[in-house]
Amino acid sequence: MHEFKYRNNQLYCENVLVGKLAKTFGTPLYVYSYHTLIDHYLKLKSAFSEINPLICYSVKANSNLSILKALIAKGAGLDIVSGGELFRAQKAACPPQRIVYASVGKTDKEISAAIARGILFFNVESLAELKNINRIAKGLNKITRVAIRINPDVEAKTHKYISTGKITNKFGIDLASAYKILLLRSKFENLNICGLHIHIGSQITQSAPFVEAIKKVADFIQRLKNKGLVLEYLNIGGGLGIIYDREAPQTAEIYANEIIPLLKKTGLKIILEPGRFILGNAGILVVKVLYIKHTLKKKFIIVDGGMNDLIRPALYNAYHQIVPLSLRVGEPVSAREKVDVVGPICESGDFLAKGRLMAKVKEGDYLAVMSAGAYGFSMSSNYNSRLRAAEVMVAKDKALVIRKRETCEDLIRNEII
Ligand code: LLP
Repeated sequence: MHEFKYRNNQLYCENVLVGKLAKTFGTPLYVYSYHTLIDHYLKLKSAFSEINPLICYSVKANSNLSILKALIAKGAGLDIVSGGELFRAQKAACPPQRIVYASVGKTDKEISAAIARGILFFNVESLAELKNINRIAKGLNKITRVAIRINPDVEAKTHKYISTGKITNKFGIDLASAYKILLLRSKFENLNICGLHIHIGSQITQSAPFVEAIKKVADFIQRLKNKGLVLEYLNIGGGLGIIYDREAPQTAEIYANEIIPLLKKTGLKIILEPGRFILGNAGILVVKVLYIKHTLKKKFIIVDGGMNDLIRPALYNAYHQIVPLSLRVGEPVSAREKVDVVGPICESGDFLAKGRLMAKVKEGDYLAVMSAGAYGFSMSSNYNSRLRAAEVMVAKDKALVIRKRETCEDLIRNEII
């Protein structure tokens, strides 16, 4: 469910007319619904209320400070993957004991900063990294908590670029190697190996792969217990799929009902790291039609937002629904036509939709690219020296700019001639 709905044939975000936002703040423009994102967070929280997990929102999905603050205020923690995200977490005043830190390539500087900050734990992805964190903690005269990220070798049934739980992926440590590490844990004098972590991929629509992965890890935890090795945390990652097109993903309740019995059996404190589930359908990208171009073979709708603003179609061939801000009533379905919706960037991969059946649009019309709240702005760039879009947060009938549109000066800020 989301708060982007038509009233009198005009698209609204909560109680605000999206067309008015486009005119006031310009396009391309990201628009978020505060109540949608909070509602999604609370849905997950209530589905899992029986085990009261710590929900660490995955910052990479959308790292705007206002969004982080909104979720932290509701009790969320953060899942971070870089020194930059650690900095954001600090700026958003996230209590450090609610921060978990993953990534296969943490640098010494990032590790030191996170230890100094006193985060809850690192999710460690290799033996080499474990040794390095131990060394750095020793230098700082600290004992640092870590969780071992397990690679459970499970097929997540999602796009191959965002599938992370197969043994051929760079993530995590296989069960046999993890077992050896855990038995030798006393050798890591400055580490408290207190948990396990899994994250098998993103945009996973069925619960079966999650269940399979959790079962494997739960059995592993039992094996460790039998050896007298008791842990404190199990971090089950993110990955919950959402509706972009015709997906029928598991609901939070179905997901929770399937895995809570397994999680309870472990007796550990549970952590979740959702990103897309919270933000995905809480945001849209509004663009304006610049030109309509007929070629010998195709019709192109050229808009003012491109792959630098939203790279998902270009990178994953991802589907995003595209709808007009103003519906034209009485137009027959037969008036629909197949078009490519493309951006201004000098690459043929710069498209938002290909061969899409759409109602007629004309130059100057505004379009909304739906489900763009997660991995939209956070993956945007300045390619072609384009200025990154502004972001607006809507709550009921209020709209606040939460990131200003960039200026040309922003583009060259760090350059030296
Ligand atoms: N935890 C870890 C360790 C992760 O690597 C990720 C996402 C998450 C949690 C959050 O996953 P989510 O709940 O959002 O599925 N750019 C891609 C998605 C990449 C996901 C990377 N890791 C996309 O646009 O589809």
